[in-house]
Amino acid sequence: MMAADNIVLIGFMGSGKSRVGSYLSERLKYSFKDTDKLIEAQEGTTIQEIFHRHGEEYFRDLEMGLLISLKDTLRETVLSTGGGMPIRDENVKLLAMMGQVIYLQASSDTIISRVSGDTIRPLLVGEDIRAKVEKLLGSREAIYERAASIIINTDNKSVEEIASEILAIIA
Ligand code: S3P
Repeated sequence: MMAADNIVLIGFMGSGKSRVGSYLSERLKYSFKDTDKLIEAQEGTTIQEIFHRHGEEYFRDLEMGLLISLKDTLRETVLSTGGGMPIRDENVKLLAMMGQVIYLQASSDTIISRVSGDTIRPLLVGEDIRAKVEKLLGSREAIYERAASIIINTDNKSVEEIASEILAIIA
């Protein structure tokens, strides 16, 4: 089946999915959607609160349910996804059906500089952010690579530069 005419951004927390996605959607005159924001709107609460009250697996179920509900209706949209979205194989398949899947890759140093001081990401709160980022990134890198048809490195690049690279590839 041909992927629909959407762009799907995947990658670790702090890789720039939301900022790049929003900018890219303006350049393409596409809509912009962000799975975290859609889940928060649907549940009427924050991601932190969902993790706190129900745990990670419950959140992963919400992510999968959201993709299933979006899959047939999404058109001309840039979809930014939560960093854990491709953990489930089922989601990887759904994302591939929805559009061109682009992995925004970032080194652990880049990620740490972008998320340090962060209090809204439940998986990164507390002590020793570096150890947490390195461990989680190490366990996910291959998953992101496998799920994507395009990989863009974002280290030391502006949102505009990253978006221009994507536009040059998909044009
Ligand atoms: C998560 C990433 C977050 C959010 C949740 C879990 C993850 O999204 O979905 O905190 O498992 O990597 P961002 O990648 O937009 O920060």
